[in-house]
Amino acid sequence: MEVKNIKIVKLGGSVITIKDVRRSLRTEVIQRLIEELSLFYREYGDSYGLVVIHGGGSFGHPVVRDCISKYGKIDRNCYVDTADSMDTLNYILRRYCVVRGLPVVSLPPRSFCLLRSGRPYCFTKILSRILSRELILLTYGDVVYSDRGFEVLSGDTLAWYIASKLGASEILFVTDVDGLYDSDPKVNPSARKIAQARIDEVLGFLSQSSLDVDVTGGMRKKLYEGITLGVRGIRVKVLSGFIEGNLYSALTSNNFTGSTIWY
Ligand code: ATP
Ligand code: IPE
Repeated sequence: MEVKNIKIVKLGGSVITIKDVRRSLRTEVIQRLIEELSLFYREYGDSYGLVVIHGGGSFGHPVVRDCISKYGKIDRNCYVDTADSMDTLNYILRRYCVVRGLPVVSLPPRSFCLLRSGRPYCFTKILSRILSRELILLTYGDVVYSDRGFEVLSGDTLAWYIASKLGASEILFVTDVDGLYDSDPKVNPSARKIAQARIDEVLGFLSQSSLDVDVTGGMRKKLYEGITLGVRGIRVKVLSGFIEGNLYSALTSNNFTGSTIWY
């Protein structure tokens, strides 16, 4: 059975963890975001398929960064350590979800995706089954097997890939900035927020945005990925996860603090 109206929520690593402190959690933020997801699910769960993807933050990125600086690549031990760290973060989030009554099933991408020449290939049939049984898919940025050994598949890339393969109507990027700006607001304090735009109208701004220090990315990569995958007819919301009620508002309306980008 095909599931209509799929919403994909990507919880950015900087929202759920403190980026500079290894394996640190923003517990209150996590609990509130999961509460907002569960409120949405209780009210609208029958009408939507829900996919929740989380980033790596201080659980994934520092492990990968260390490996790259020491060995120039993700070797077998690094792969194991990163997978272990990401599974730990996922376990914590999954417990909160289950306790709040969200019927989540979590799958590590290394069990259903590969990267070939940097492009993801995932076995999506199982994902459709999860959604068609009225379960919520919980997954995350992960280390996966690739033709070059082991590589990171980011939660952002996964969000776009799942959106394109399962035909999602909306992706919500929950992040640490309150929308898309005409330049990086952390670098340029006079950057202006873009409330709504078509993706072709913001490509110029994005090409000037900083690519960020992370192993996977920044805002430019987040939004470009949809173009790379040729996704069309989808609404993308970029919103802050630090504003109470904002995720619930973005899930249920167009009245939220953030930006809406049309593809
Ligand atoms: P993480 O920070 O852990 O990678 P995330 O998915 O929440 O996870 P990023 O991928 O880093 O977030 O993307 C958000 C960041 O992009 C912001 O913190 C901001 O500094 C940066 N950024 C760069 N250009 C822009 C822009 N034009 N508008 C808004 N944010 C931008
Ligand atoms: C990164 O996932 C996962 C690993 C480093 C293994 P993301 O790229 O989705 O994480 P954030 O949101 O940027 O922290």
